[in-house]
Amino acid sequence: MYNVRHINSDLLWIGASDHRLALFENVYPIPKGISYNSYLLLDDKTVLLDTVDSSVRQQFFENLQYGLNGRTLDYMIINHMEPDHCAEIESIVKKYPEVKIVCNMQTKKMIGQFFDFNITDDRFAIVKENDVLETGKHKLTFISAPMVHWPEVMMTYDTTDKILFSADAFGTFGALNGNIFADEVDFATEYLDEARRYYTNIVGKYGPQVQAVLKKASALEINMICPLHGFVWRHNFGTYLEKYNLWSSYTPEEKGVVIAYGSIYGNTYNTVSVLATKLAERGIKKIQMFDVSVTHPSYIIGKMFQYSTLVFAAPTYNAGIFVNMENLLHDIVAHNLQNRNIAVIDNGTWAATAGKQMKEELAKLKNCPIIEPSISVKSALKAEQLAELDTLADAVKSAL
Ligand code: FEO
Repeated sequence: MYNVRHINSDLLWIGASDHRLALFENVYPIPKGISYNSYLLLDDKTVLLDTVDSSVRQQFFENLQYGLNGRTLDYMIINHMEPDHCAEIESIVKKYPEVKIVCNMQTKKMIGQFFDFNITDDRFAIVKENDVLETGKHKLTFISAPMVHWPEVMMTYDTTDKILFSADAFGTFGALNGNIFADEVDFATEYLDEARRYYTNIVGKYGPQVQAVLKKASALEINMICPLHGFVWRHNFGTYLEKYNLWSSYTPEEKGVVIAYGSIYGNTYNTVSVLATKLAERGIKKIQMFDVSVTHPSYIIGKMFQYSTLVFAAPTYNAGIFVNMENLLHDIVAHNLQNRNIAVIDNGTWAATAGKQMKEELAKLKNCPIIEPSISVKSALKAEQLAELDTLADAVKSAL
């Protein structure tokens, strides 16, 4: 059965959610599921804005058929060619032989890479930034948004209703449960963490490109934002825009300490646990601790984009960094985190090298000075090292 919602009198949300997928992009746990948003504009011409992932295709096609209500589909705008949104374009082209594909040249090339269906050039309306597509009452224009999150990405702006179709930007992990508008839920309490985890892990590497798009968007009057995942924004999105500004400029949202640790037998955990207590005794209220062996790196990366000060603690393992910590560090470098203060603690029973190697990896991050002293534990924390931890706790407090 169709399952759609009206966004306004001309625009329908015709997407669907997947509550069963374990790993988004086969990488990121999504315990609350994921939504794939698709929109249908009903004007003199009918316009589909992006399709969906193949996992929800049946619901999508029922929704589209209901929305069209016997009309044909005139245009399909492709804002993003990643398969979680473009999976159904071949089916659309075959089902609606008159439909014109509205996309840029890079997208057209990717269609040829992903699909084998034959389509003649006259089925395409190739657009570039600021081109206008008139559909009757509505005039749609296009904003190129390269690397947010792929190079071909563009956004569509409905100049009539002032709606920005923002592709992956402003999305979130989490299925939609009936409510499709951010103002229908307690977004800050229930979804902001997942929105941050989505942004930082999916787009976090491309801060400068996101900044460039935010600058373009700031020149537009925007009444509504319609992303490809998560909620439609129609009120009070200034706060969310500000979060995007902070995340994409690698600016901490707040002062606080994230402690990521790997611990084989509990001794490194004991060390950071004692440090956390010393930080609390110095009045630091925001302290988060994550065991890298049981916490997916995407959660830790999200929190490291949120807070100002980071502590990494790990034992030496196979003459290198404890493997789960090594994986986290690699991921952080790949996501281009910047502008944090960082403390390093290592542990080793013999030939401890993890601290030196962790620092070498962290040196790849821009503007992330190391807070001294770095501490090296020999097997287990002893009373004579507590003074060193006090000194480090003082230094972390000063660096906040
Ligand atoms: Fe939701 Fe970059 O795809």
